[in-house]
Amino acid sequence: MEYNFSHHKPENTSDYIALYFTKFLRFLADTFFAKRYGHRAVVLETVAAVPGMVAGMLNHLKSLRRMEEDRGWIKTLLDEAENERMHLMTFIHIAKPTALERFLVILVQGIFFNLYFIMYLISPRTCHRIVGYFEEQAVVSYTEYLEEVEQGRVENVKAPEIAINYWNLSSDARLIDVIKVVREDEAGHRDVNHNFVDDLDKKTSHQNKTVEVKEKEVNITAQKK
Ligand SMILES: [Fe+2]
Ligand SMILES: [Fe+2]
Repeated sequence: MEYNFSHHKPENTSDYIALYFTKFLRFLADTFFAKRYGHRAVVLETVAAVPGMVAGMLNHLKSLRRMEEDRGWIKTLLDEAENERMHLMTFIHIAKPTALERFLVILVQGIFFNLYFIMYLISPRTCHRIVGYFEEQAVVSYTEYLEEVEQGRVENVKAPEIAINYWNLSSDARLIDVIKVVREDEAGHRDVNHNFVDDLDKKTSHQNKTVEVKEKEVNITAQKK
């Protein structure tokens, strides 16, 4: 089955930073987890649930400070964080993290939360592109995981109760069904975050045009005098 692996081609420095940052983390994850997809899901979902919360919080504060509408961003971002946390709550029933992995989760959270927070203050655009690229990779990883289960290399266990309730799956749903709905969520986050970047770019180009128009007006007035 062909799945929608859409990829945003990098167009500027911010995109390239986001892409190479993602590639670097993907390399680390591949080295550490190899084909242990259940464990990979548990550990990486603890990271995936961070950006939405940080970006949601920062946009919330910005909306308060500027007394401006958020155009629905805050809720979307907080929903993303909650959805990612539910992925974690699901996969924790499928793979039990080792002591090392639990330690890693704590360490990575300490680093990643602060790093993402500071990066978001500097460039929200790059941060949303990063999540867009993270999610592209999540789609790839869940597709690989799905193949492992479909080929019988990973047991197609019964879906955890929490997943059946959260996604309204049938009562006899299996791991394959869970991976498919999770992958669908990841593809959704991918598109939403790449769209956020488009939105920010539109806003910037609109601001630049307004500045240009104002500068022209100033020049014309100056010439008239
Ligand atoms: Fe996820
Ligand atoms: Fe995700």
